[in-house]
Amino acid sequence: MKNAHIVGWGSYLPDRVLTNDGIANFVNTSHEWIYTRTGIRERRIANQQETPAKMGFEAAAEALAVAKISPSQVDLIVVATSTPVHMFPSTASQIQDYLGARRAAAFDLSAACTGFVYALEMATNSIKVGASENVLVIGTEVMSRVLDWQDRATCILFGDGAGAVVVRGSSIPGGIMASTLGSDGSGGNLLSLPVNYHTNLPILHSQPSVNGHHPNAIRMNGRQVFRFAVRVIAESVQAVCRDAELDLEEVDLIIPHQANTRIIETAAKKLKISPDKFFLNVDKAGNTSAASIPLALCQAVGAGRLKPDDNVIFVGFGGGLTWGASLVKWDVTPPAYDTHQINWRDPRYIWARNKSRLKRLGRKVVSTISGSPTPEARLRDAEEAKDE
Ligand code: ACO
Repeated sequence: MKNAHIVGWGSYLPDRVLTNDGIANFVNTSHEWIYTRTGIRERRIANQQETPAKMGFEAAAEALAVAKISPSQVDLIVVATSTPVHMFPSTASQIQDYLGARRAAAFDLSAACTGFVYALEMATNSIKVGASENVLVIGTEVMSRVLDWQDRATCILFGDGAGAVVVRGSSIPGGIMASTLGSDGSGGNLLSLPVNYHTNLPILHSQPSVNGHHPNAIRMNGRQVFRFAVRVIAESVQAVCRDAELDLEEVDLIIPHQANTRIIETAAKKLKISPDKFFLNVDKAGNTSAASIPLALCQAVGAGRLKPDDNVIFVGFGGGLTWGASLVKWDVTPPAYDTHQINWRDPRYIWARNKSRLKRLGRKVVSTISGSPTPEARLRDAEEAKDE
C-alpha cells in the first residue's frame, strides 16, 4: 500500500483588506472588542471576479508548481467549500477546467470548517487503495457573501481566501500517518448556513427576517461553538497521536482551523501544551472556513516553521457539527524558485481556457446546425458568457 505525501502547497488571498475599524464603520462594534475576543485584526474580502473556483484555481496552480507536476498528471480534485456559486457544476469541476487537468475526476465536499481535513482524508484513502497517484486537495471560500453584515456577532469573524495541497502516492515511508474524523448532527443548529432555494426567501443583503436574523446567512451560537471547539481540538489531537504512536511532545507544530485565538489558547491549556505549538494567522485572515488550514500551512512553510522530519497536526472543527485531525510526517523542503508567479496568465492556463472556450463553441455550433436555439437557450448562452 502506498503512503500519501504532501508534496505541494499554494494559497490565494484577495487584495482587499477589511480592518476591524472598517467594520466598525457600519456595525456597532470596535477594534478593541473584536481583537480581544477573537485575535482578528483584519480579513480579506473577495471582489466579484474572485469566485471560489477562481481563487481555488490560483491556489492549486501554485501547489502544482511547488510539486513540479503538470495538471495532466492529476487524477483527482477534491474541493472543500461551503460557499460554492453553483451546487453543480461543482467548484472542483470548474477548477479542473481552468487547470486543463483533463484526466482528473472532480467533486466538492461539504464539511464546513472541517472540510479541508475531510478532503485530505479522502485523498489519502484514494491513494492508499491505488485509485489515484496525484490528488489536489483545495479549500476555498467566499465567506463575505454568506454573512449578514448587520449581525455584529458573526460578520466580524470571517474572511475570504483559498489554499491547496498536492498529495502524492509514494512507497517512501512517512506522509499522512494517522487521521480521525467525526460528526454530531445533533449540534447542527449551533452553526448553520441555510440554502435559499429551500426557503424561497429574500436573498442576502435584502431585508432581515422578523426576528432580526437574515434567513440566508450564517447563524451561530458562539458560546456553545466555543466549548465544542475546545473539546474536539483536544480529543482529535490526542486521537491522532495515539494512532501514530507518538507522544504530544514529539509533535513539532499544530496547524488548527483558524477560528479564534481564544479557542486555541483554551485548547492548549486543556492539552497542557504551550500555545506556541499552534500556528496562527487568524489576525490577518480571519476565519476562512475550509480554506483556513491550507492557507495557514502555506504561511507556516513560508515562515520556516516546518522542516523535514517534523511531525505536524492539522486539526479542524465546525458546522455539522464536524471535526477531524491528520498527523503528517513533513518531508519536503520548499523549492528555491518563486511559485507565486504561477497564475492564470501562465501560457499553460491560457491554453486551457482557450481549449475550453473552443469546446463550448463547438457545442454551440453543433446545436445551431441541429436546430435553431430556443430563446431560453440563447439566454443561457448569454449567462454563461457573462460567467467566463
Ligand atoms: N462588538 C461588540 N459587542 C458585541 C459584538 C461585537 N462584534 N458581538 C456581540 N457583542 C455583544 C453581545 O451583544 C453581548 O452583549 P450583551 O451582553 O449586552 O447582550 C456581549 O457582546 C456578549 O456577547 P456573547 O455572544 O456572549 O460574546 P462572547 O464573549 O461569547 O464572544 C464570540 C462572542 C467571539 C463569537 C465567542 O462566542 C466565540 O469566540 N465563539 C466561538 C465561535 C467561533 O469562533 N466561531 C467561528 C465559526 S465556527 C468555526 O469556525 C468552527
